[in-house]
Amino acid sequence: MVQALERTRPAAFSWAPQRPPRNAPPVRINLYSDTQTRPTPAMKEAMMRAEVGDEQHGDDPTVWALCDRMAALMGKEAAVFMPSGTMCNTAAILAHCQKGDEVLAHETSHILHSEGGAHAALTGVQILPLQGARGLFTADDVRAAIRPRTRYAPPQRLLEVEQTANIGGGVVWPLAQLNAVAEVAHGEGWATHMDGARLMNACVAAAIAPADMVAGFDSVWLDFTKGLGAPLGAVLCGSHDFISMAWRWKQRLGGSMRQGGICAAACLHALDHHVERLAEDHAHARALARGLAQIEGVVVEEPDTNLVFFDIGGTGVSVEALQGRLLEAGVMVSALGGRVRACTHLDVSAAMIPEAVQAIREALAAGA
Ligand SMILES: Cc1ncc(COP(=O)(O)O)c(C=O)c1O
Repeated sequence: MVQALERTRPAAFSWAPQRPPRNAPPVRINLYSDTQTRPTPAMKEAMMRAEVGDEQHGDDPTVWALCDRMAALMGKEAAVFMPSGTMCNTAAILAHCQKGDEVLAHETSHILHSEGGAHAALTGVQILPLQGARGLFTADDVRAAIRPRTRYAPPQRLLEVEQTANIGGGVVWPLAQLNAVAEVAHGEGWATHMDGARLMNACVAAAIAPADMVAGFDSVWLDFTKGLGAPLGAVLCGSHDFISMAWRWKQRLGGSMRQGGICAAACLHALDHHVERLAEDHAHARALARGLAQIEGVVVEEPDTNLVFFDIGGTGVSVEALQGRLLEAGVMVSALGGRVRACTHLDVSAAMIPEAVQAIREALAAGA
């Protein structure tokens, strides 16, 4: 079977990412993702000054400082520094669940679509996809998904939400709705986990303190490599017992670090300097959405935060053609969930917004 699959794979296929073509035009406006920010000079300075030690042995003071600060910020007992958000999700699911357990998550969730099948391959859980507009579901949706406790049904163990909901459109879960779904989960004896890849965007947009936003969740992580602009790192928070178990999995997965303080210093710098400014990214996203809405055939989803999704079906131009034409013009956007995604972040200035709108207008005007 595996051989048959291998045969159907195109000869040039590789799981590894491709290098950019040598003659690729320089990217002037990178709306592809908020993961593509470069550390600022001040962030690099902070990294150079970092006091470091062996993180794996508990000797790195800067990693401890970051974990203590994150635990306090999220109102949890403890925290662990991880290389990536994907590892936070994997370690969290491993810490909460046993093989064969079921995790309830939105049908567009990152754990279902974008973690390489990690949960089948590594955690052994199955994921029950919940439906709902814009990446959210309701307490009634969760109630409707409760399985009978019989030996036939998979044991349901964990409810997962994404704050903000990425493919949903960077949508902010309203606090009351978050608490309502968490209450149903806890009522069933399940744990609750929040993928907070863009949690700070949600907190800034809704003007809600992180600890309040995540109070209904037993575990939560924040990514520092998205709007916060750090080169590496995410912090997973929860109870002492949960973090102890997450550490066990971090070690097993090869996520324990050595002089991790170099990167933790970038995250601390981001907490000091890059959180409140997320409001600028949100304002840029709204300006971009307003500009795009003026283009005939384009349907724009009103952004809550820094992700602007738009549908170009009405223009007759394919998403791939738009991406290719924009690249020629030095503008990069992504395609996600059948729509185009443009993402604002640290490296996107106010002046770039009208330029990007004009480039998209021209690329679409060229026709199918
Ligand atoms: C919603 C969501 N969850 C998880 C991740 C994974 O984060 P990382 O790239 O740090 O592994 C991402 C990354 O884009 C994301 O958007």
